[in-house]
Amino acid sequence: MSTYYLTTPIYYVTAKPHLGHAYTTIIGDALARWHRLLGDDVHFLTGTDEHGQKVLDYAEAAGKSAQAFVDEIAPLYEQAWRRLNISNDDFIRTTEARHKLGVGELLQRCYDAGDIELDLYKGKYCVACEEYYTDDELDPGDLCKIHKRPVVYSEEENYFFRLSRFEQRLLDWYAAHPGAIVPEFRSNEALGLIRGGLRDFSVSRTSLKWGIPLPWDAKHVAYVWFDALANYITAIGFGSGDETEFKKWWPARHLIGKDIIRHHCVYWPAMLISAGIEPPAGYAVGGWLLSDGEKMSKTSGNVINPLDLIDDIGLDGFRYYVLAETAYGQDGDFTYEGLIARYNSDLANNLGNLLSRVATVVDKKCKGISPAPRADSPLAAAAATAYAATAEGWDAVQPSRALDATWQLIRATNAYLEANEPWKGEPGPAVDAVMGDALEALRIIAILASPAVPATSQIVWQRLGLSGDVTDQRLPAAAQWGGYPGGLPVVKGDPLFPRR
Ligand code: ME8
Ligand code: MG
Repeated sequence: MSTYYLTTPIYYVTAKPHLGHAYTTIIGDALARWHRLLGDDVHFLTGTDEHGQKVLDYAEAAGKSAQAFVDEIAPLYEQAWRRLNISNDDFIRTTEARHKLGVGELLQRCYDAGDIELDLYKGKYCVACEEYYTDDELDPGDLCKIHKRPVVYSEEENYFFRLSRFEQRLLDWYAAHPGAIVPEFRSNEALGLIRGGLRDFSVSRTSLKWGIPLPWDAKHVAYVWFDALANYITAIGFGSGDETEFKKWWPARHLIGKDIIRHHCVYWPAMLISAGIEPPAGYAVGGWLLSDGEKMSKTSGNVINPLDLIDDIGLDGFRYYVLAETAYGQDGDFTYEGLIARYNSDLANNLGNLLSRVATVVDKKCKGISPAPRADSPLAAAAATAYAATAEGWDAVQPSRALDATWQLIRATNAYLEANEPWKGEPGPAVDAVMGDALEALRIIAILASPAVPATSQIVWQRLGLSGDVTDQRLPAAAQWGGYPGGLPVVKGDPLFPRR
């Protein structure tokens, strides 16, 4: 059994989660669920990033102590992920003891390796990014390119991580691990950053108290990005004295947004190499969800609350839209009209309609008891093609492609029913044959769709008269044509997705 350790970014606890956070987390969840279907031993981690100037600023604006503030916000993330049916195996908060221990250990290792040194830093700092920028990295008027807000001048005696020493080692590592960053155009972006030359970055602050003290100089707290990146190893026990879990799971595959490529694909592997740890196994980089052409962000004030959308369109309608609408890696524009259109076409008219017409015909023409599929069904080839293309899509971290492949089988099955019109036939072997095939296609569809719409897949599973849990199925065997036994009571229920 192979291990599959998948992470999302840990989100800043400045406010409750918005659609952009839900987007990355749902993609992670669907990938984790796909890998569980494949029989992989999966560990899926998410969490919250709770230290640093930005979080402290929000706490002060709310009139709270930093600790009280983060203790209030972090649970909003955990609750949101429960409501979105996110199957994370762990949730890390950077204010936890296990994390502080591990960050201390990582800092100490880089310091002992000679890659962290004291120096004076002057520069322009974007608090929203928690990042220093040079003049040519800013928009006119000293505005941050991401947040369109002024940077602040800052001058500090800091410890520096000697990133400049890692240029060649990083290039060599990426050359030896082609495909480590997907999609490919995002890989070119990351390599471009390295080839463009690497500047040392500051890993400590003295002006800030809200952070983890450096083990060898407690006047300084760790730079929030150094602290945050370490979550991926501290959560699995790095620095805790018992490294069994760490050895089992590391290296991870990281899901990140394009806004944090530099930190993840440049800083992080260099920090790990310095500490004598293997770099991450891979990165899948997503684009931004835009609203009105702007990145949806708390800082821009154009956020959409994912929980409002669930109330409106249902949990799986929302999850499906997020996964199917945008090619992962590209930016996507969130529109309410797009959400409704996809719901109606793919869920109400395709999946929902298929299940409802199959259950209705089995009820009327087969006494409610399912016929078995034919071994030589004309749908068998469509099912095999759908499985292969679905697997390829998830493997490439392209959920929209994977779902389109699964939905091809839904469309093919609807077309098959329309060509044969079993609702017009007399009860008997001809109708039974067509219905057995359609039921088998639905069984396979329920499995393949389950990473995206787990609750719906389980309902389909039960209405087909199947017992147990759809998520306990194991691929590729479970997608083989002919697994549906027939002779089961088929349930006619309410429409899965009433039209909007
Ligand atoms: O950067 N569209 O946290 P963050 C798509 N704490 N994805 C979006 C998005 C949008 N409009 N807005 C946010 C941080 N995201 C750090 C990370 S990791 C060690 C530390 C997603 O709260 C996307 O994945 O700003 C992005 O990279 C992440 O949220 C940043 O969340
Ligand atoms: Mg951000």
